[in-house]
Amino acid sequence: MNLVLLGPPGAGKGTQAKLLEDSRSLVKLSTGDMLRAAVAAGTELGRKAGDIMERGLLVPDDLVIKLIAERMDQGGCGEGYILDGFPRTIAQAEALDRLLKERGKELDRVIVMQVDDDALVERIAGRFACAYCGEGYHDLYKLPKVNGVCDRCGSAGFVRRRDDNEEVVRARLEAYHAQTEPLIGYYRRQGKVSAVDGMADIRAVAREIGQALEGIGVKGAKRPAKTPG
Ligand code: AP5
Repeated sequence: MNLVLLGPPGAGKGTQAKLLEDSRSLVKLSTGDMLRAAVAAGTELGRKAGDIMERGLLVPDDLVIKLIAERMDQGGCGEGYILDGFPRTIAQAEALDRLLKERGKELDRVIVMQVDDDALVERIAGRFACAYCGEGYHDLYKLPKVNGVCDRCGSAGFVRRRDDNEEVVRARLEAYHAQTEPLIGYYRRQGKVSAVDGMADIRAVAREIGQALEGIGVKGAKRPAKTPG
């Protein structure tokens, strides 16, 4: 099963991709994580992408398509990919169709996470993560069980992303509406869209995604019914 999680910044793509990866034999491919790793490592890609990301703009298509193609060539896809943050433009969506086809795979479903723009700034501004294992937290919705200590690895260092401030979040939202939202129509025409309510709590969103994926990857099973939106 190969699926795309599509939604604006802060919609919960990364959160749900992680839950899916932990509960199924799927591999998460997050272009945001890969680009941040390249920036941290100071690679040529990181030098090109860093400034663009800090302004909340999209990194050029050719760079992210190359990144995804190289990752796919490394193998280790389990029973499929969860694409988080890719594709973000029509050119990237066409490249994804091509990359999967070249590897004898296809995209099964696109989960569109519907959220209220106004809630996103609050969500993103409250977000932080463990500096060591990357476990995600939120000031209001998900604090560590023991104050200052990561639930997952027990370490005490936390980080916040450089692009998680109000001005840059607004630029990211603008880029989403202008360049990424048109993908909903692109995938709807392929009959692959399932819309979920991204404003529900994290577990309820996960359940709704689970329902949208029912039957996919099971031989002879039908696609789930399309939901509106
Ligand atoms: P990227 O890292 O992909 O960021 P993004 O799309 O802006 O998305 P976020 O990671 O901010 O949000 P999310 O939807 O994953 O939400 P999360 O689960 O973290 O991209 C960063 C930059 O890299 C881009 O701006 C661009 O420059 C570049 N880039 C990346 N991919 C690219 C591409 N393909 N092409 C070109 N450029 C690219 O949740 C957010 C917070 O809310 C968390 O604290 C979480 O705990 C909380 N939360 C999650 N779900 C819920 C819920 N249901 N209820 C309450 N709180 C929730």
